[in-house]
Amino acid sequence: HRDLLAIGQLERHEILFLLDEAEQWVEMNRRAAKHVDLLAGLTVINAFFENSTRTLLSFEIAGKRLGADVVNMHAAQSSVKKGETLIDTAITLNAMRPDAIVIRHGSSGATALIADEVDCPVLNAGDGQHEHPTQALLDALALRHALRERGHAAEDFTGLTVTICGDVLHSRVARSNVLCLQAMGASVRVCSPPALMPSHVEAMGAAAYTDFDEALAGADVAMMLRLQTERMSGQFVPSPREYHHLYGLTAARLAKAAPDAIVMHPGPMNRGVEIDSDVADMLDRSIITRQVEMGVAIRMACLDVLTRRRRGVEGWGEKA
Ligand code: CP
Repeated sequence: HRDLLAIGQLERHEILFLLDEAEQWVEMNRRAAKHVDLLAGLTVINAFFENSTRTLLSFEIAGKRLGADVVNMHAAQSSVKKGETLIDTAITLNAMRPDAIVIRHGSSGATALIADEVDCPVLNAGDGQHEHPTQALLDALALRHALRERGHAAEDFTGLTVTICGDVLHSRVARSNVLCLQAMGASVRVCSPPALMPSHVEAMGAAAYTDFDEALAGADVAMMLRLQTERMSGQFVPSPREYHHLYGLTAARLAKAAPDAIVMHPGPMNRGVEIDSDVADMLDRSIITRQVEMGVAIRMACLDVLTRRRRGVEGWGEKA
């Protein structure tokens, strides 16, 4: 692959390869000195057309820790606001000869469109309701670390049941995670209010639930998603109170899952809506901050691997 646009493009061994590559960066990031010159002389552009805290900052930190020159383009301050098209923006960025472009955009498929216009690898940092591949990879890495600490020897997720609950219809995180977790051997249950359940869930091989207690029964992992009200138009929008009553992860609900079940959330969280604070902050169960930590390591691995061919190193390869 030249680009990283979707988990759907990756084989299981490629997912495992990226997770394994990230381990060295987890180690390095825990040391006082967190810098190598691996990408010295390379330029990475982070072009974000949608808001972000975790993804933008972790891609910036990842590029800098690898020694690259990193520049951020915030769409709100760019010529996109003057009517420049996405393709013209891509051609403009490409003319500056970057070595990788990281893109977040509100439209599904926008990153693939840009990838077709530029000469360097493109990394999808979330495109509309389509995919958020580095989120699923960092979630897999965080889960693998948490399982190891619990004595789970296997490198993959065979035998594990993961319940993903929330606004699945609008969630690129849900789609990428269903694909990634299944590729890693997990059984995936997807739970949402009926109006927020996309029709393709079962075609993707996941089990669809509208009753959260049923979906959670015996699950090893509860992955919670927020309601993406900014993407809702015409859909049923439950009130936060109503939603919490039916789909909020409370300590009492978590007791229905497997003993020691792991709690995950990609962030940003709406505490008291999809997850209670006492659950989000459970030190022995919640790995939410670990997910953020793993985000830097995974993005370092992705930037390294995708730029290898440009650096004359055998690796992931580029489009002919
Ligand atoms: N999880 C995630 O993508 O968070 P941000 O929107 O803050 O990047």
